[in-house]
Amino acid sequence: MSILSVTDLHAGYQRGGAVLRAVDGVSFEMQAGETLAVVGESGCGKSTLGKALLRLVPPSAGQVVFNGIDITRLRGGALRSIRRRMQMIYQDPYGSLNPRQSIGAILTAPLVVHGIGGRAERSRLVHEMLDRVGLPAASFSRYPHEFSGGQRQRIGIARALLLKPDLVVCDEPVSALDLSIQAQILNLLAGLKQERGLSYLFISHDLSVVRYFADRVLVMYLGRIVESADHAALFDHPSHPYTRALIDAAPDPGKRRPPAPIAGELPHAGALPAGCRFHPRCPLATGLCAREEPALRTIAPGQRVACHHADAVPMNTRIKREPAEA
Ligand SMILES: Nc1ncnc2c1ncn2[C@@H]1O[C@H](COP(=O)(O)OP(=O)(O)O)[C@@H](O)[C@H]1O
Ligand code: SF4
Ligand SMILES: [Mg+2]
Repeated sequence: MSILSVTDLHAGYQRGGAVLRAVDGVSFEMQAGETLAVVGESGCGKSTLGKALLRLVPPSAGQVVFNGIDITRLRGGALRSIRRRMQMIYQDPYGSLNPRQSIGAILTAPLVVHGIGGRAERSRLVHEMLDRVGLPAASFSRYPHEFSGGQRQRIGIARALLLKPDLVVCDEPVSALDLSIQAQILNLLAGLKQERGLSYLFISHDLSVVRYFADRVLVMYLGRIVESADHAALFDHPSHPYTRALIDAAPDPGKRRPPAPIAGELPHAGALPAGCRFHPRCPLATGLCAREEPALRTIAPGQRVACHHADAVPMNTRIKREPAEA
């Protein structure tokens, strides 16, 4: 069953009279229980996409259908009751935790807003959740600055999950954490997903995290999806030159090769290149690429790519290279 169905979604920001098109025509389906990753360099529009899905940034056009309900134009109480089912975990929980409120107050507030339980019941729910995310009961009366980065992310997870959502948008939930702590938080998220049948839209610029965590991957470049593929297809035969560049730029856990940074700079979303948006940085670009924007098309079961020359992309030249003696 599809939990999320997104059609031609647009969202952006006003900048000096112009509109910055941060999300510029995104369509995808997400199945219930799936972990769908969204990857791309910083500035590609991943966070704006996550926020537009939850209506935290207003979409300017397009449609978001969540659990069969078109939520694109919901307002007031109807929007509030849907929001309860869609929650967000942020990269920097500290920035989203009020420093003057105790953890107990922070975690109780959403329950009050949504009219869940009486005083005693809310306290019980919060204590139960603190325990589940691995925080001591005494955290209830402590303040955000008394916690480490990893603990603060546990608080952010507790806050998102207290409302028993179906869909959680995890926006770079471990990017600000040390490697050893990252694994703990990812394991916690994986366990909670299993227990509660959650669906995760998992935003990350880090492909090593996505490799570990995702069922399926959307690759985003300058507001558009350029490739959509199952986990295996994406890592075994990436087809868009940008996907291949992202994989080559990520640290290789097997250390068979040094990371190769992506050539050129990400153009600003306020000055989108004509034709294929990746053409100024693409090693395979032709005249056609500079003129015509490629549409997303299916090239294999479960794999779609927006590239005029996707069939010509040599596969596995870097990522599958094995040591000579192996
Ligand atoms: N609140 C905002 N106001 C104006 N521009 C923004 C805002 N948030 C993001 N942007 C711009 O929108 C584009 C996409 O940003 P973002 O969605 O944060 O990308 P990502 O999460 O992939 O790094 C960038 O050009 C960024 O500068
Ligand atoms: S359409 Fe052309 S420029 Fe764009 S990714 Fe494909 S080959 Fe490169
Ligand atoms: Mg972001």
